[in-house]
Amino acid sequence: MAVTLIIGAQWGDEGKGKIIDYIAQNSKLVVRFHGGNNAGHTVINQYGKFAMHLIPSGIFNRKSKSIISNGVVVDLEVLLDEIEMLEKNKISIKGKLFISPRCHLIMPYHKLLDSLYEKTKGKAKTGTTGRGIGPVMADKVSYNGIRIWDLMDKKIFSQKLKTQLILKNKILTSLGANPLSQKGIEKKYFKFAKEIKPYICEPYSTIEKALFKKENILLEGAQGMFLDNDWGTYPFATASNVVSGAITQGAGIPPKKLDTIIGVTKAYATRVGEGPFPTELFDKTGETLRKVGGEFGTTTGRPRRCGWLDAELIKFACDINGFTELAITKLDVLDNLPKIKICTHYSLNGKKVRYFDGDANFLTRVKPIYKILKGWKKPTKGITKYVNLPKEAKDYLKTIEKLTNAKIKYISTGPKREEIIKL
Ligand code: GDP
Ligand code: IMO
Ligand code: MG
Repeated sequence: MAVTLIIGAQWGDEGKGKIIDYIAQNSKLVVRFHGGNNAGHTVINQYGKFAMHLIPSGIFNRKSKSIISNGVVVDLEVLLDEIEMLEKNKISIKGKLFISPRCHLIMPYHKLLDSLYEKTKGKAKTGTTGRGIGPVMADKVSYNGIRIWDLMDKKIFSQKLKTQLILKNKILTSLGANPLSQKGIEKKYFKFAKEIKPYICEPYSTIEKALFKKENILLEGAQGMFLDNDWGTYPFATASNVVSGAITQGAGIPPKKLDTIIGVTKAYATRVGEGPFPTELFDKTGETLRKVGGEFGTTTGRPRRCGWLDAELIKFACDINGFTELAITKLDVLDNLPKIKICTHYSLNGKKVRYFDGDANFLTRVKPIYKILKGWKKPTKGITKYVNLPKEAKDYLKTIEKLTNAKIKYISTGPKREEIIKL
């Protein structure tokens, strides 16, 4: 198994947390390497049900170490709450969790700016999670970021914060918000610094050793391929790169070290927030998918938009990320549908077009062309053996493989760890 990377192959919420928790049982290291607490990964196992925002979903393996590496942007308040929540549930953290001092801090002004930008854009908003992700990443690339390292030295932190507040308070007040006080932020963040200190440790040597010893490392992707800042449906995207290549920037692991790259996709499609969604359903079937699939955001609780599986997108995700295998989740959600559609490709003005031929605006105009399959109308919930799947469900899975030219390795048939078929 050695180095395994998990990537969302759609717009996030594909069920990565479920698959990561399953595979992490055999991992020595589990690493979150990008995004921030915009992520919400659901894990259901013998310890209970958990929504993980920053701590790797592999923390439930008592023998593995969990790393939040440099590519992750961190809201310390959320992180400390998550640590407390796990400890309350008797999940041991001490000596198991390592946070890179290179991580950029999400500051109170990032969250305010996130909401003010969205409000100002009105109808053209992205529909962000409101967690300050875009503004913190903008500060990172424009050399205005504050890192955990800075927080470890009160003087440096105060100096950097002072400069940032000169800049940020001008923007905040011009957008109608109140200015922020240096004292108030310092008080809060110095308290966080004390609490988080035991977990701060540059993780590169731990990763280097594990690579050298060929131990099983699991890289936990967040968000989904089509939220990637470059290759996603920009500006309806997230601020980081989600594609497989992001592991070098985000965790210091060279691409050639990857042995397995798993693309996770639901058996249908969902998206939360704004942006194009060619196979979106606005009818009763869409409502059924939302209801049966429990399609409400893990982080924000927003209802997710639902639609048919889009093989044009999955094929592109396979190609650009180099997926070696696919994990299909939520097959059971389709159990009662009389027929199931799958988008094979797009057409525009009578011509075949590809996902990458145009921008987000172009994608609102393409027409999805569907193949219609017979539903299985039988329960698949909890099935753990491929032979026990109804014939029509097998036909659907084979169609996905054919259209995407990828191999399915995992089929998830329920939210719990054990509700899975491994091929
Ligand atoms: P992530 O962000 O990719 O980890 O996905 P989320 O946790 O945000 O959303 C996935 C949702 O689907 C969660 O509520 C999971 O518990 C649930 N889930 C995952 N796999 C399955 C499955 O195979 N069947 C069903 N019914 N639910 C699943
Ligand atoms: P996981 O890891 C689903 C979406 C937001 C919005 C866009 C930008 O749970 O799959 P941001 O807050 O990042 O600036 O929002 O990206 N988004 C997600 N959608 N799952 C996620 O994470 C997401 N993280 C961000 O809804 O459309
Ligand atoms: Mg999620």
